[in-house]
Amino acid sequence: MRVLALLWLLGFVLKEVEAWSYSNGIFHNSIWLEQAAGVYHRESRKGRYQLTYKEAKAVCKYEGGTLATYEQLEAARQIGFHVCAAGWFDKGRVGYPIVKSGSNCGFGKVGIIDYGYRLNKSEKWDVYCYNPDSKECGGVLTEQQKIIQSPGFPEEYEDEQICYWHIRVRLGQKIRLHFMEFDVEDDTECLADYLEVYDSYDDVSGFAGRFCGDYLPDDIISTGNVMTLKFLSDASVTAGGFQLQYIAFNASLPHK
Ligand SMILES: *[C@@H]1O[C@H](CO)[C@@H](O)[C@H](O)[C@H]1NC(C)=O
Ligand SMILES: *[C@@H]1O[C@H](CO)[C@@H](O)[C@H](O)[C@H]1NC(C)=O
Repeated sequence: MRVLALLWLLGFVLKEVEAWSYSNGIFHNSIWLEQAAGVYHRESRKGRYQLTYKEAKAVCKYEGGTLATYEQLEAARQIGFHVCAAGWFDKGRVGYPIVKSGSNCGFGKVGIIDYGYRLNKSEKWDVYCYNPDSKECGGVLTEQQKIIQSPGFPEEYEDEQICYWHIRVRLGQKIRLHFMEFDVEDDTECLADYLEVYDSYDDVSGFAGRFCGDYLPDDIISTGNVMTLKFLSDASVTAGGFQLQYIAFNASLPHK
C-alpha cells in the first residue's frame, strides 16, 4: 500500500497538471448542486468509458436521478460545467460539455461536443446524470477549512456509498488536505472501497491518488483553488471510515 501510494504521488508530481482557477460564480466546473443546475458526470466503478447505455441509465437511477437532456447539459455548461470525458445523455446521445477550449479536449471548440445519437447502444462511455435534489453524502464546500468524514463517522460507513466532495476556496488560494484517521476496507489495488483525491473540480482530470487500508496518507496540496474527493464502498465489508481536514491557504501567484 505504502509503495503504491508513493508511486501515485510521484506520478502526480511528474505529470504536468493544469492549475484550475475558479472565481466565484464565473468559471465553475460544478458537478454538484452549486452551479451546475443539477447535472453531474459519472463513470463506472471499473473506470472511464465502461458504461453501455443501459448501464448508464442505471447509474443515474441508482442515485435518484435520470440521464441529463441536451438542454440540461447545455444549461449547466453555460454556467461553467466543463468535463473532458464523453458520456451518455438522454435518448442515447453521447457528448461532453466544454467551456474553455483546449488542444487536448474538444478539438479546440467550445460548447457541447456532440457525438450524436449512437446507433450502437452497447458502446461504452461515461454518463451525464441530472438530479436537482441533494444526495446522501458529499457536497460543495467553500469554507476556508472543514473536516470531512465518511458517512456515519465515527461509526462504520455503509455498503454502496458514493460520495463526492467538491472543494472550492478563493481564487489565488490552495488547499491542503490533512488525513486524521483512515480505515477503509483493504485490498491490493483498492478496487472494493476507496477514497480518491483529484487535483481538479471533477473526477476526470488531476488524479492525485486512490487510498484504502489503514495507512494514513500524507498531506496533499492542490495546484489550484479546487479539489475533489470521491468515496466509494462496494456491496460487502465495511470499515471504520476516515476523517480528514482541509485548510485553504494564500498562495502567491506570479500573475492573475
Ligand atoms: C457495438 O459496440 C460494441 C462495443 O464497442 C462492439 O463490441 C460491437 O461489436 C458493436 N456492434 C456493432 C453491430 O457494431
Ligand atoms: C489571504 O488573502 C486575502 C485576500 O487577498 C486576505 O484578506 C487574507 O488576510 C489573507 N490571509 C492570510 C492568512 O494571509
